[in-house]
Amino acid sequence: MIFKNKVFQIIKHLMIYPHYKMNVFSGTNSYSEMLDVIKCLFSSTCVNGSDIGIYHHLLQKMLGSPSYSFASGRMGFYSILKTIGIQEKDEIIIPSYTCIVVPNAILYCSAKPVYCDILMSDFNIDTDHLESLITSRTKAIYAQHTFGQMCDIDKIMEIAAKHNLIVIEDAALALGARKDGKWAGTIGDFGYYSTDRSKVINTGLGGIVTVNNSNYNKKFSDYYDSIPYLDEKMTKKIAQTFIINVITLHPSLYWIGKFINMVLTKFGVMTYFSDEQCVRKESIYAYPYPAKLSNIFAKIGIWQIQNIKHNISHRKQVAHYYNDILQIYPSEYIENEKNIFLRYSFLIRNRDYWENRFSSKIDLSIWFKSIASGRIDNFEKIGYSLGSNTISEYACLHIFNLPTHQQIKSEKLKKLLLELKKSGDIISKENIL
Ligand SMILES: Cc1ncc(COP(=O)(O)O)c(C=O)c1O
Repeated sequence: MIFKNKVFQIIKHLMIYPHYKMNVFSGTNSYSEMLDVIKCLFSSTCVNGSDIGIYHHLLQKMLGSPSYSFASGRMGFYSILKTIGIQEKDEIIIPSYTCIVVPNAILYCSAKPVYCDILMSDFNIDTDHLESLITSRTKAIYAQHTFGQMCDIDKIMEIAAKHNLIVIEDAALALGARKDGKWAGTIGDFGYYSTDRSKVINTGLGGIVTVNNSNYNKKFSDYYDSIPYLDEKMTKKIAQTFIINVITLHPSLYWIGKFINMVLTKFGVMTYFSDEQCVRKESIYAYPYPAKLSNIFAKIGIWQIQNIKHNISHRKQVAHYYNDILQIYPSEYIENEKNIFLRYSFLIRNRDYWENRFSSKIDLSIWFKSIASGRIDNFEKIGYSLGSNTISEYACLHIFNLPTHQQIKSEKLKKLLLELKKSGDIISKENIL
């Protein structure tokens, strides 16, 4: 037995540790969740089943608002827009420092995204700029909690009340953050979350909407009842993707796993939603938009919600580790329940150099390197004029963010973090807070 253990240790050292490479995805799922998904794949409850109701009930119990699951966050957001009756030429104010699927959902309703700049301090919307953008066509304000740090939601609610506007909270990156005991996503009239592989919890792909203004309960519930599920073929493909991800994205296999993922995606064995470059809903043909979350993924959601306390306290622990070395934020800021640090984010000079240096240990895929991240060019197609929001554009050039999920062994980054701190390339806290 001792001999066997010794051999195993040696193999582990020779085979695994030299290749150990972390990444930003899928750090919250266990192998038993994966086995559950495999079992469900061969059952008749892959698409529709009782786990969806249990998941919704669990979410409502935790969040305190009626909750509905979708195949993605963007589809949830689109459903909110449809429920509030957004029409052609209506304006929604959103931060320019966001994900491309946000303005896309607005464009799919033939409405107009109006881009607001952000604050350097926390990458969230600048409420002074926001108020100056309100016109007679404005219908809603989009309160995004960037990277898991809550925006000034009180001020946004105050502005919205003054101008009689609807507030939609984007808590896609902030499930679990709280202010005065209220969850991010449950303060505005509506809120939504994303639950794909890079988010606080991972259900393969997925999203959740909370309806916090009871005037909309019936309307939203009727709309939800009217939309389809993904079909069985698509559901199974996403489930397959989840299973392969859990295995191949583990840090000890990632060196080869990344390549396997690329090949299997190319050959259609794995799939993701990819409407990043679409500005018209009609161009999405591979799956229904919007669609409900299939039962198999709700099953994973139940596990994930049951584990959320541990998930968030781990993220805080990792954020503390980074911060103890880099000293970017006051430690009370890390401790504050408003910030769950899905990614510990800050601004640096010489980003390409540092991204390259970190890439020996971790595949960062830094988030929000462009306005409406995911769009590479032709910004006029989404109604954004380059040069208009200078802070957002500055943040795109200098942002650096580190993941905090449960497969992150922060001590493996210690040497690099110390070097980064010593280099003086971090753009100083005084400029940030
Ligand atoms: C800030 C933000 N909002 C919304 C979304 C949409 O989430 P989903 O990919 O589940 O549609 C994302 C996606 O990453 C995001 O980063």
